[in-house]
Amino acid sequence: MTNDPYALATDAATALKGAVGVGSFDVALVMGSGWVPAADAIGETIAEIPVTDLPGFAPPAVAGHAGRIRAVRTESGKNALIFLGRTHLYEGHGVNPVVHGVRTAIRAGAGTVVLTNAAGGLRPETQEVGEAVLISDHINLTGANPITGATFVDLTDVYTPRLRDLVREVEPSMAEGVYVAFRGPTYETPAEVRMCRILGGDMVGMSTALEAVAAREGGADVLGVSLVTNPGAGLVGEPLNHEEVLAVGRATATRMGVLLSKVVNKL
Ligand code: HPA
Repeated sequence: MTNDPYALATDAATALKGAVGVGSFDVALVMGSGWVPAADAIGETIAEIPVTDLPGFAPPAVAGHAGRIRAVRTESGKNALIFLGRTHLYEGHGVNPVVHGVRTAIRAGAGTVVLTNAAGGLRPETQEVGEAVLISDHINLTGANPITGATFVDLTDVYTPRLRDLVREVEPSMAEGVYVAFRGPTYETPAEVRMCRILGGDMVGMSTALEAVAAREGGADVLGVSLVTNPGAGLVGEPLNHEEVLAVGRATATRMGVLLSKVVNKL
């Protein structure tokens, strides 16, 4: 197996297309914590495989992250690749496995990457638990970057404005906000949450930013959507736990699935 992460993604894309019998994909969706049940609304399943059947993917480590890849045909006739779960930086495999799915999807043809996540809400004054928020930008506090070397990728519009406009055609009232990415796996301290609010953050989580950067490096358009599963630590005095995050996902899965399906059909 090659050490070059880009060559590894090319190998994985070839293996993927062979395994699911699809020649090229139009769009890829990464389903974060709590989002996996929403995948069922996106289209007819063509095939589904464990990520570990393909080169370069780490086995799943988190409950609620299924570690499978589904090839789907949407109502509008698009081929969608759905990652049921993702690899996080806190799993300790390094940054390349975190973005391997996105790189693989782009090499398999996907020109649009939809990144979903569960997030803590930093603005409980205006946000509700169970609300989906469009990611307008991010602050990457992971200390990592998927790009090595002097490749200066422009991130002015890392989350494609046209795709956000398209979501608002479906859901005009949807708010947008800045996603602050931490490495995790601890949830933030209340002081970190207060810092994020001062920095201009609206949501906080442990994923998405690195994948968005890799997608932009690969030339894909990016749509990011956070499901607010809890107020950020210390904002309401309740302790946080992963079960609560998954429960909000289950409660909102149908609504989120319908939203994603409408958006994908408009692409
Ligand atoms: N912080 C970080 N990640 C999260 C949170 C949070 O409050 N909620 C869901 N994922």
